Amino acid sequence: MHKIIIGNWKQNPAKLVQAKKIADEVRKMSTKIVADIVICPPTPFLHTVSPSKKIALGAQDTSIEKDGAHTGDVGAGQLRSVGVSYVIVGHSERRALGETSEITAKKAVVALKAGMSPVICVGEHERHHDGAHWQVISRELHASLSGISRIQIKRVVIAYEPIWAIGSSAKGVMKTEDIAESMIFVKKVLGEIYGNKAAHGVRVVYGGSVDNLNALEIAERGEVSGFLVGRASLDPKKFLKIAETLK
Ligand code: PGA
Repeated sequence: MHKIIIGNWKQNPAKLVQAKKIADEVRKMSTKIVADIVICPPTPFLHTVSPSKKIALGAQDTSIEKDGAHTGDVGAGQLRSVGVSYVIVGHSERRALGETSEITAKKAVVALKAGMSPVICVGEHERHHDGAHWQVISRELHASLSGISRIQIKRVVIAYEPIWAIGSSAKGVMKTEDIAESMIFVKKVLGEIYGNKAAHGVRVVYGGSVDNLNALEIAERGEVSGFLVGRASLDPKKFLKIAETLK
């Protein structure tokens, strides 16, 4: 299975013309990339990315509801109908607004039913000397995967994102050896839930301050199946440099 790079634009850029420019540059520069590329623009800019063999379109969230009176929400079926094939669920920035692992699991199931791949985000707020973060990650994984079958898990991407390493207030990228340890731990938990064979087929990516300078080392020694990239995904050159490290 190919490695995967997922660009999460979050609530950026400010204007449609800028979104078009980023999408266009990524498309032009992506021809030599081996990894699967997914771009997740904010909803009004989804159409700036034309899904192709090389680049898939992703959304940053989905409603649990199929349709109806849910002002402001966008449903999984609606996303699928405009070419979206991946959906980020349970991102820490949404969890901070009250999204629980139970809601995340429901969103993931809804996304799968609509024919998309959920990108399920998990990660600890802090590392504890006594290793308490392992319990946090394990609990979050179990709860966020509730209702997802062994058949469906193949289509799921897990994004391990330690919250302290995400965004402009991050303490910085996680050490590569710690990323490797976390990746192995996530796969161990997946193995407990789905059996080692099924777990082996699941892509587990790292996210949190990945950029063009640290990506190569993490790609080579971090046991990752790819990256979830925030800030650096808005800069096509940086984004493609990161993508190049995934062979
Ligand atoms: P960052 O964001 O790369 O800007 O740290 C990652 C994410 O939140 O997915």
